[in-house]
Amino acid sequence: MGCSLSAEAPDRRPEQEEEEDALPVSLSAESREAIRSSWREIQEDISRVGVIMFVRLFETHPECKDAFFTFRDLNDVNTLRASKELKAHGLRIMYIIEKTVARIDQDDRLDQLILDLGRKHYQYKALPKYYDLMGEEFIHAIHPVLQERWTSDLEEAWKTLFLYITRTMKKGYQQAQRSHSSS
Ligand code: HEM
Repeated sequence: MGCSLSAEAPDRRPEQEEEEDALPVSLSAESREAIRSSWREIQEDISRVGVIMFVRLFETHPECKDAFFTFRDLNDVNTLRASKELKAHGLRIMYIIEKTVARIDQDDRLDQLILDLGRKHYQYKALPKYYDLMGEEFIHAIHPVLQERWTSDLEEAWKTLFLYITRTMKKGYQQAQRSHSSS
């Protein structure tokens, strides 16, 4: 059990791929520091990054829009970009990332925050198969903000953090699903 970021990640063989979700995710002290300092720059642009993430998500996977009552019927990209609801939703995601970065060294508090988020997504009917896409879109959106400060190590660090977030959200989702089916 446990989803902590600081746990040692064991070597993984390809045939263990199906057990991927059971493996812990780890981030070195250097990677944590790289995330913290890049976040300070991303923070200045959070509402724009949030909107870019969602517009691209909906362009590449329009079916994700069905989960959102407020913009499921908006099909035009410019209308989506200008939508206040989409901006507000993008900001909610960015605030959770802000909290994640703030708790990056406090495994238990971080696990609780993200497990709870996964449980809420069960109520929102947002399927786990789409969570990984959000990490890809986040990385795509922050790249131009960081420009020449972007490095492959930083990219790996953010990918690892999102791997942790999505795996932990999936666990929270499954917990809510189990308690719903046993009640
Ligand atoms: C890494 C992935 C994701 C993160 C970090 C994330 C984060 C959040 C946050 C922070 C909220 C507000 C929670 C609250 O009510 O307090 C939220 C709400 C919501 N999310 Fe996500 N989310 C992710 C992926 C997704 C995906 C892929 C979908 C759709 C397929 C989705 C659908 C929703 C819906 C429908 C709501 C509630 C409506 C709203 O707040 O506008 N989420 N999400």
